[in-house]
Amino acid sequence: MSSVKIGSKTINTNIFLAPLAGCSDLAFRLICREYGAKFCFFEMLDANSLIYSRIRSLRLIKTTEEDKPIAGQLLGRDPEKMLEAAYLLINLTGISFLDINCACPVRKVVKKKCGAYLLNDQDTLSKLIKKLSSSVSVPVTAKIRIGYLDKDKKHITELAKLCEGSGAAAIFVHGRTKTQMYSGDVDYDLIKAVKESVSIPVFGSGNILTPHLAKKMFDETGCDGILVARGALGRPWMLKDIANYMEGKAVTAVSMETRKTALKKHLSLLGKYTEVKNSIRAGFMRKIGLWYLRDFATSAKVRGSICKVNSYDELLTFIDSLPD
Ligand SMILES: Cc1cc2nc3c(=O)[nH]c(=O)nc-3n(C[C@H](O)[C@H](O)[C@H](O)COP(=O)(O)O)c2cc1C
Repeated sequence: MSSVKIGSKTINTNIFLAPLAGCSDLAFRLICREYGAKFCFFEMLDANSLIYSRIRSLRLIKTTEEDKPIAGQLLGRDPEKMLEAAYLLINLTGISFLDINCACPVRKVVKKKCGAYLLNDQDTLSKLIKKLSSSVSVPVTAKIRIGYLDKDKKHITELAKLCEGSGAAAIFVHGRTKTQMYSGDVDYDLIKAVKESVSIPVFGSGNILTPHLAKKMFDETGCDGILVARGALGRPWMLKDIANYMEGKAVTAVSMETRKTALKKHLSLLGKYTEVKNSIRAGFMRKIGLWYLRDFATSAKVRGSICKVNSYDELLTFIDSLPD
């Protein structure tokens, strides 16, 4: 596992757990860390929510000593508001660096001219990076996609240079366009083109679902690091498996027993750290249960049973009833 320098910060791994809204909460990050993740992201935080609706945002930025080192990510477009939110986030959490989300393709985000919208609003993007990188105490990075529409892909290296020239200390590139959302092929050639166009670290993201696909990202793009996203849902050992595979060590299939143990630990962390109404917690538990058991041999039956579960005890009883 290599280290990577992001601005003034040296991070002792180049395999990061990606920001995952609605998924990468404290319980998820802690279980990933327990199984070998060395660096994680908070999920994205809307700058206005952090400034104006503190209670929900405070839940999203809940962290502990074991949950370090960690990066934060802000969503927004107004440089003054982003700066106010950045100060709050840095002071409340001790993040190693601050990322600006220029990748979120969700309609309500893009409608507010945030997230992936910034890919085609380069004036605002440049102002944001300049403002934040010249004001805050931690390095500032940008998470981009390879374009908004297919036709924008040819401008991706200009965008990367603009980020670097404005003060970004690293670039995270999801190798899909905004239009592709989360499916379809990842364009390794364009991530490689970004890597070759700037001298700051470039991280590849997209389809890192197995150690083999992680190696493919490194080999085909020459990237400095990777973001592991959906590949870690229900597989908290994924980052460690990738690190082992990259070092040429054998990666063995995970047993059902290990999967059940990890799921139980994850649920117990959820119970400990996630302060929400019981009905909401039950929804989270079902979602997490499905992540871990999705490729279990009888998964359709398992899925049906998990969807009926309403409490922690019921889910535990169900997990224990599954064969090892
Ligand atoms: C449920 C979900 C939530 C996500 N939330 C964020 C987020 O908060 N910030 C961000 O930059 N990217 C977010 N992403 C994008 C991922 O970080 C990653 O770039 C993308 O999923 C591609 O990687 P994958 O194909 O390996 O999953 C999210 C993706 C998913 C599926």
